[in-house]
Amino acid sequence: MAKIILTGDRPTGKLHIGHYVGSLRERVKLQNSGTYDKIFIMIADAQALTDNADNPEKVRQNIIEVALDYLACGLDPEKSVIFIQSQIPQLCELSFYYMNLVTVSRLQRNPTVKSEIQARNFEASIPVGFFTYPISQAADITAFQATTVPVGEDQMPMLEQTREIVRKFNTTYSEALTEPEILLPGNEVCQRLPGIDGKAKMSKSIGNCIYLSETADEVKKKVMNMYTDPDHVRMSDPGKIEGNTVFTYLDAFCNDEHFGRYLPDYSNLDELKAHYRQGGLGDVKVKKFLYSVLMEYLEPIKKRRTEFEKDIPAIYKMLREGSQKAEAAAAETLAAVKKAMRINYFDDIDLINGQIKRYQK
Ligand code: TRP
Repeated sequence: MAKIILTGDRPTGKLHIGHYVGSLRERVKLQNSGTYDKIFIMIADAQALTDNADNPEKVRQNIIEVALDYLACGLDPEKSVIFIQSQIPQLCELSFYYMNLVTVSRLQRNPTVKSEIQARNFEASIPVGFFTYPISQAADITAFQATTVPVGEDQMPMLEQTREIVRKFNTTYSEALTEPEILLPGNEVCQRLPGIDGKAKMSKSIGNCIYLSETADEVKKKVMNMYTDPDHVRMSDPGKIEGNTVFTYLDAFCNDEHFGRYLPDYSNLDELKAHYRQGGLGDVKVKKFLYSVLMEYLEPIKKRRTEFEKDIPAIYKMLREGSQKAEAAAAETLAAVKKAMRINYFDDIDLINGQIKRYQK
């Protein structure tokens, strides 16, 4: 069986380092591993509209930002099909048929939808489109017969729901759809990188992000203001690692080689942590180290982004061509789905002959 990846992001803002460690970095690795037959990366504008119906301009403006962030991180349109969700009409058709296979109570139990409803104060007035977006996400995944969906752990309920829809479809009609597997980042901190305030997950709406396109000065300012251990007042005080954002980020980003380059007094993160716990290590020193580590990732990304920004028409051309390729793939699946559901009337000679016979007197 062909190995196929589908994944994507909502274009509601620029991408941040939480996206990077949570999925972008992994995607680029998978892309370059050569072990996948096809890779589809989707800018999920239609899904973004399910909770931004009154602000299409926000979504419209951010498509190019996400595309630039993708290219800057190393996604390569020669190897990955990068496309825009709303340009693939087959996704809507698939969603419409999948809706018959999902109950309202099953959607109400979806933990991601539940918490998003709360976060958006939608309790009393949930748009139907928002409520049903897990079904639309199942269409996104199955339209490309994806075997592998690299995403963060918050998407686990979406994958479970997709797998259920696939099983239900294949048993109700006939085997037309592929059951996908989720692929989570190996490092657990990467799955849920907190914001610089150390509280919630990094998120645009909370304003606690470090963006991939940020300048070095902005990154420095944010790192220096990062939440650490509030009880670590004097340098000599023993410090806490747990819940200390600077160390959480180091867990996500740093490796032993970084110590050789930027902090040769220590040979690895365990040694640094031990010293911090014991006391005698100041926050500023650790933050400066983190800044150097982060910049090692962010500087080349920023540089590549600046290059791509010089030719915006080329980005739209790439998205248009990607969308055409994606549409061709989705059309194949839709045809198979309609055949399995036996709603491909005009191609169904047996149906037509059967009706002829019935009406022959
Ligand atoms: N829900 C995903 C997010 O919020 C975006 C998305 C839409 C997606 N469709 C998808 C991710 C299909 C993976 C597969 O980030």
